[in-house]
Amino acid sequence: MALTSDLGKQIKLKEVEGTLLQPATVDNWSQIQSFEAKPDDLLICTYPKAGTTWIQEIVDMIEQNGDVEKCQRAIIQHRHPFIEWARPPQPSETGFHHVAQAGLKLLSSSNPPASTSQSAKITDLLPPSFWENNCKFLYVARNAKDCMVSYYHFQRMNHMLPDPGTWEEYFETFINGKVVWGSWFDHVKGWWEMKDRHQILFLFYEDIKRDPKHEIRKVMQFMGKNVDETVLDKIVQETSFEKMKENPMTNRSTVSKSIMDQSISSFMRKGTVGDWKNHFTVAQNERFDEIYRRKMEGTSINFCMEL
Ligand code: A3P
Repeated sequence: MALTSDLGKQIKLKEVEGTLLQPATVDNWSQIQSFEAKPDDLLICTYPKAGTTWIQEIVDMIEQNGDVEKCQRAIIQHRHPFIEWARPPQPSETGFHHVAQAGLKLLSSSNPPASTSQSAKITDLLPPSFWENNCKFLYVARNAKDCMVSYYHFQRMNHMLPDPGTWEEYFETFINGKVVWGSWFDHVKGWWEMKDRHQILFLFYEDIKRDPKHEIRKVMQFMGKNVDETVLDKIVQETSFEKMKENPMTNRSTVSKSIMDQSISSFMRKGTVGDWKNHFTVAQNERFDEIYRRKMEGTSINFCMEL
């Protein structure tokens, strides 16, 4: 499928089991699928724009016992390599880039899990070794409307993704799941339905925003880590939006402008709850709520769409 744009950003996304993905991911699919997870791997899983970078930094801060300097050792994309960006080594590199580097324990992925819905297509896109080894998964969900807004601005500035077109056009693209990593509804519902059958800590972006200390404590417990109260306070401070926006190891300022043009939109854009209200028309909101009710019917997840 080719998604083209006025700006000439012509990216041809590819499909795996009905889910659109970046071409490089699909071209390297068999290698990604053969990734061998270890039993103590923790996989961070999110739908795009749900706060992946935020939870990655929180997890690393916990892992480093709140040592800011240690968290400055590398950009976040290298501290938490994405499985889907795994690719064969380049001539200048040794080892399997991103994924197998030094037996990293902290990985990230946007892969949707096997869907348990009768009607939905089974899309188990995760390397099977994660399930076989009973690994831990940390899932962060974010209100669909805010994800859509964030993804729209991200596609505007990210030259590795198709141009989103106008907001009206993007609204249709998103509700039809024609974005990289597919439908928000399938992704969130799929992981929600899996959460009691595996070691999955299911968090909400809005909860982390409202009470970061409480949610970070949950992450610590899930990781089996214990940090004292002063360190916990430091982690809350250092992972605030304001700090992470200024931090070159998290704000993507090291990424070339030809890939991410932050003069169009910042990677650390607003970091708020409810920005959708500045984008959705009344009619779009009513239509979206109707689609949400239909698609999420039968699931016990309780998202407040009015946030
Ligand atoms: P906005 O575009 O709404 O500002 P991801 O890392 O999954 O790509 O998600 C990016 C979104 O998370 C962006 O949302 C970004 O601003 C937000 N974000 C990143 N760090 C954050 C933080 N510390 N606190 C709150 N939001 C954060």
